[in-house]
Order: sequence, then C-alpha cells, then structure tokens
Amino acid sequence: MTGSNDKKKNPSAAARGSQLASNFTVSIHYDSRLYREDIASSIVHARMLGRQGIIHSDDVNKIVDGLSKIALEIENDEFVWKSDIEDIHMNIESRLYELIGDPAGKLHTGRSRNDQVATDTRLWTEAACGRAFNAVGALQSALVNLAEQHVNTIVPGYTHMQRGQPIVFAHHLLAYFEMFDRDATRFAQAAESTDTMPLGSGAIAGVTYPIDRKWVAEQLDFTEISRNSIDAVSDRDFIVEFLTASSLTMAHLSRLAEELVIWSSDEFGFVKLSDEYTSGSSIMPQKRNPDFAELIRGKTGRVYGALMALLTTIKGLPLAYNRDLQEDKEGLFDTADTVIESLESAAGMVNSITVDTDRMKQAAEQSLMLATDIADYLVAKDVPFREAYIAVSDLSKKCVARGIGFSNLTISDFQEVSDLFEADVMEITLESAVAARNIPGGTAPNRVSEAIAEAKQMLAGLD
Ligand code: ARG
Repeated sequence: MTGSNDKKKNPSAAARGSQLASNFTVSIHYDSRLYREDIASSIVHARMLGRQGIIHSDDVNKIVDGLSKIALEIENDEFVWKSDIEDIHMNIESRLYELIGDPAGKLHTGRSRNDQVATDTRLWTEAACGRAFNAVGALQSALVNLAEQHVNTIVPGYTHMQRGQPIVFAHHLLAYFEMFDRDATRFAQAAESTDTMPLGSGAIAGVTYPIDRKWVAEQLDFTEISRNSIDAVSDRDFIVEFLTASSLTMAHLSRLAEELVIWSSDEFGFVKLSDEYTSGSSIMPQKRNPDFAELIRGKTGRVYGALMALLTTIKGLPLAYNRDLQEDKEGLFDTADTVIESLESAAGMVNSITVDTDRMKQAAEQSLMLATDIADYLVAKDVPFREAYIAVSDLSKKCVARGIGFSNLTISDFQEVSDLFEADVMEITLESAVAARNIPGGTAPNRVSEAIAEAKQMLAGLD
C-alpha cells in the first residue's frame, strides 16, 4: 500500500493535515439550526448600535435589510452554506458582506462570537423548552382522556411484576400524568434558567461601547441581563437543565413504552396498539411489532448520553470561553428532536389505543389479589394485622392447592382458618376492594374521578 501510485493519489501529509484541521473545527453542518436566533439577535444588536449613536443609521438600515434578506434565502433554501466558513455566525456575516459590502463590518461592533453564540443558544433552548412543555401537555391530555373511559375498568396492580392488588386502569394512567406533570414543571424551570441575556459580555470582560443591554434584552424577550460577563460566556448549565428535564421525561416515556410493549403482547393482551404505531415482521406474517414504543424506549439512551457528554465537557473547563463549548449543540439539537418526537409518538399511541377491559378483568379474577382485603376484614374484627396475614396465607395455600380463587372457597373453608369469618366475607370482591381504597390518592373510582377532574383543571391552567 506504500507504492508510488498511492502516494500520487493521496494528498500530501501537510495538505491532509490542514484539511483535517479545518473540518475538525467546522460546526456549520449542525449550528445552521441557529440561523433564526442568530439573525434576530443581530438585527436587534444593529438597531441598538444605531439608537446609541455607535454606528450610523444608514448602516443600520443596510444591515437590517441584508439580514432580513438572508433569513428569506435560508427559509427558501436558496442560501449557499459554505463549509470552509466555520459556523453559522460567520456564514451569515460573510453573506452580509456579499450583499451590502463594507457596512457589514460594523455589525460586529461591541460584540464577540462568544456572547453571540451564548445568546443564540439561549434563545434556541428557551424555545425548545416551550415546545417540549407543550408536547408533554398533549401527552397528559391523551392520558386523561383515556383515563376518563376507564374509571371502572379493573386491572391487576403489579408489584415485582406479580399481581398485587386490584386497581382501576384510570388510576394507573394517572400515575403517568403525575410523572409528566413534574417533567413539564422541569421544562418550565429550564426555560426560566435560559431567560438571561449574555450580549454585551463581549469575549470575556464586557465591551467598551455605550451599549444598551436592557433594550436589547427587551427586544429579544429576555427577562434579565447577565450580571457577570465571564460567567455569561462560559457556562452552559441552562442546556444541562434542558437535558436533565429531557432525560427524566425519557425515563418516564420509556416506562410507559415498556408497559405498552408488555400489555400488547399475546401473554397480556390488555391493549392493542393502532396499526399506525406497529409494523409487521418481514418473515412472521402474524406479528404486529410495537416499534414506536420500542424506539421510545431505545432512544432514551442517546438523551442520557447527551446529558453525560455535556456535563463532562463543562467539567474542569477553565474560565471563560473555550472552544470545547461548541460541543454543546449537537446533543442539544438531537435531544430536543428526540424528546419531542417521542412525546408526540406516545400521545399518538395513547390516543389510538384499544383497551381489552375483559382481559384485564379476567387477569384480576384469576389471581389471589383480594388477600389483603380479606386480611383487613379480620383486622376490622380486632385481629392484629400480622395474625390476619397468617390466616390469609393459609387460605391462599388452600386455593393454590385446589387451583381456585378466594371466590370459589366456601364459608367453612374460611372458618377453618379463623372462626371470625362470617358469611359477609363472601361480599369481598374486586369492586369492593378498589372502592375501599377511598382516600385521597387511592384507587377508589370516586377518588379517581376527582383526580381526573383535577388533572383537567391543571391542563386547562396551561393554556
Ligand atoms: N462556533 C462557536 C461555538 O459554537 C462560536 C464561538 C466561537 N468563538 C471563538 N472564540 N472561537 O462555540
């Protein structure tokens, strides 16, 4: 492989080196996604420079016209992206020179790419928090709508994946409502953390021009301006917060996805996912694979990965800006895409699911889930819980030995383990068991109806 022909075909080592060096630093292939934020912040910056008399208003007008034109070019796919010009900021500035000539050079007065990129990324992240927040809300609505139809649908409640106690299906769905509600709160908090404007920090120390940072912040819809220029250009904790909120959301989505996979299996048969969210197997014609649920579960890993990557990038970075920070964006963009698409897919699945309430009821009936309630019956007659527990264990053993449920036992079977059992023990049913959990936060249908009403109010408050 070291023949002279190969040498001729390959670029020289030096040329290869410089090509590698330039590709290595280029970010335009992903940070082009910041174009809206970059143009918006540049337009406001230019206007501010004009208002403050730092640059001439003729130049401001040219800059603003040029930037607006560039925005249109990008929207219409007419913009020529140049990968030899490193990033989004320089691609736009270079095009501005082509369009308006020398006045383009005035745009960067009183600004550095360091405060520019921090500002653009904050704007992008805040919008992403809003999109994620709304997508969480849509999934919560889907869960509440489904819950409303299943306030009286009895299903086994599992602990250790063993049938534990009967619950109503709506109660199970509302558990996810709660998880996603906390996720929504975390996205709102992350949005708040991004809501501080770095522009004016310059490269590290602030700028020498009489700029008006507050006016710029107002125009860009930032609530605050940063208090320390060094911090403003060098931290990316607001992205970490978005990635954290996203990671927890994916953890919750992944649990829901896993349950959908299990429930839609032949073994459970509790639900059927709509065709839109399943696909056939290329070889086994009978199959309906829950691909969307599996992909939500699978994509959770890349979101955790982005969080770990950024935490690691920030760790040990000396103040202030270092080029390492350019590594913040791919994970941010990929995470926003992943979490929002996963939320939308989950909402779609929940909205189109078919629930087999008979299968759920049968699964509940086939088990010994009333054991706790039968023990509670004895406790109501002043038997210490531990003793009652032993009596019901003996009863369970009888059932298992005969392959029957509690409802098939006779009153004399009951009385053999405790003479406190009377005929009314036969009135303990799945329905009475769920109804008995009549405390706030419990599975009693009347409590679950209240929880649904409350959930709806919470969602209405979001609008
Ligand atoms: N592309 C860079 C980034 O994303 C922009 C800032 C570059 N600043 C610098 N001093 N080289 O971080």
